[in-house]
Amino acid sequence: MLNQNIADMLNDQVNKELYSAYLYLDFANYYADEGLDGFQNWYEVQAKEERDHAMIIRRYLQDNGVRVTFPAIAEPDKAFHAHIDPLKAGLEHEQYVTSLISDIYSAAFDAKDFKTMQFLDWFVKEQVEEEKNADDLIKKMELFGSDPKGLYMLNQELLARVYTPSTMLAE
Ligand code: FEO
Repeated sequence: MLNQNIADMLNDQVNKELYSAYLYLDFANYYADEGLDGFQNWYEVQAKEERDHAMIIRRYLQDNGVRVTFPAIAEPDKAFHAHIDPLKAGLEHEQYVTSLISDIYSAAFDAKDFKTMQFLDWFVKEQVEEEKNADDLIKKMELFGSDPKGLYMLNQELLARVYTPSTMLAE
């Protein structure tokens, strides 16, 4: 059994991960409008990964006898004025998600819930990668995005990203 507070925090994180998927699909919609299909693809793949994150936590809760609930998912409401804007919003969002994971980890530590701490270790590592990926995208855009040829090449690079289901879902 899980401590009720930790179960609630994890259930809320399921919602936040699904919101992340919504957010990144919204970014993909913006890039589709802008004719940047590589950026669109990158965020569509990212949205699938976010759904995986939600499913991993959902399964952990279920494996621990918790009935998962699905409160409404918030509507992404960001307006973009430049191609770099979603990339910056993405990094900001990942930093926020990292803080949420840290909060749950901290609550698990206080409750001596070593099982949840061990479960969250994967997310702690994943967040390092998520923030790095978001930061790398900003750097590349700053370097190449203002030149049409550079933007074209970057778009082609992002078009090559493919979705692979998380290993956590295969276990
Ligand atoms: Fe689910 Fe992008 O962290």
